[in-house]
Amino acid sequence: MIEKSSKIFEEKFGEKPDLYYWSSGRVNIIGEHTDYHDGFVMPAAIDLGITWSVKKNGGEVRGYTEKFDEMGQFSISSSERTKFEWMLYLQGVVEVLKKKGKNFGGVDFAIHSTIPIGSGLSSSSSLATGFAYILNDIYNLGFSRKDIAQIACEAEWWYGTNGGIMDQYCIANGEKGSAIMIDCRALTHEIIPIPKNIELVVFETTIRHKQINSPYALRREQAHEAISVMKELYKNKKIEKLRDVTFEMLETAKPQIIKKYGEKEGELIYRRSKHPITENERVLKMKNYLKKDDFEKIGETMAECHKSLRDDYEVSCKELDEAVEIAHKIKGLIGCRMIGGGFGGCTLNLVKKGTAQHFAGEIEEMYRKKTGIKGNPYICNTHHGLEVIK
Ligand code: GLA
Repeated sequence: MIEKSSKIFEEKFGEKPDLYYWSSGRVNIIGEHTDYHDGFVMPAAIDLGITWSVKKNGGEVRGYTEKFDEMGQFSISSSERTKFEWMLYLQGVVEVLKKKGKNFGGVDFAIHSTIPIGSGLSSSSSLATGFAYILNDIYNLGFSRKDIAQIACEAEWWYGTNGGIMDQYCIANGEKGSAIMIDCRALTHEIIPIPKNIELVVFETTIRHKQINSPYALRREQAHEAISVMKELYKNKKIEKLRDVTFEMLETAKPQIIKKYGEKEGELIYRRSKHPITENERVLKMKNYLKKDDFEKIGETMAECHKSLRDDYEVSCKELDEAVEIAHKIKGLIGCRMIGGGFGGCTLNLVKKGTAQHFAGEIEEMYRKKTGIKGNPYICNTHHGLEVIK
């Protein structure tokens, strides 16, 4: 990949790059739509990602992406939004660093990416986190990996999305061979090795999600509504986010929620808040199941997660549900579910070692027959999230 990225750089800038970097995409084993409720997540950095060829320059950010065959640029000193849409993530990073009072210069770069865009594998977080890491490294800004994740997350808010910190934190800290269990409130993590007899097959439905204006923000608000009832009911407890609520507490509060919001709205708020609450419990359980190589429980927990996302949080879609249903009919499956923000994107399939190739072929074929759509399977491995390539 370095050769490819380097060659593009030479073609575009007429000289050799000085440095090479890697920023990964991510999958999420479990812990979906919990990060912005201050909960737990367990994603993994993967070997689909961006290879960057880079050289320092004065005060410009000039870059070429093969994906759109586009050369874009913006000046560090200007805060006017660049017309190059994909570069807004990088400009977001620059704006956050400027707000922090940091002094730094520009870069020329060329990128080669293997992450399908808009598929829920974090192509945008890979851009933002990778770029924050590069500026930090080149200009010795002194940030930790945790800082880099926070800077990238803020950069994406600047861009206009309102996701949590899971993707950036995973990319900043992910390690080969492992998933990473993140406490999204404390911003600490634990490395969770993935059993060696498990292979990862991502299946892209090719139904695109759009982060801005997606019902994502609405889900967040609806789930959070339950908090006001919780605060009244549990005055002696400190309740700020759904992270602070157990399933038992929610069940006890259900009649009050219905009373406050009415039958229809109350039922909806109950289901929306139930998802992140039960999902946090699933993340904690998954940690043990992975440690024990308990395939049956891993599969069950992923199925429960998908069901909860589909029925309670309602962020799945027809094609994701089809892809999950089909996967259950294929030999080698351990567990599967939709991943990422939802409303399209990918499913993650954990399969038994040695079956990934066959699984990938089957799911593509069966999905095409069932939906008439050509989906894309990706056999991937866990990988370091960020690194300087020597
Ligand atoms: C998107 C967001 C993440 C997270 C997931 C859902 O990928 O960027 O922060 O909220 O959706 O788990």
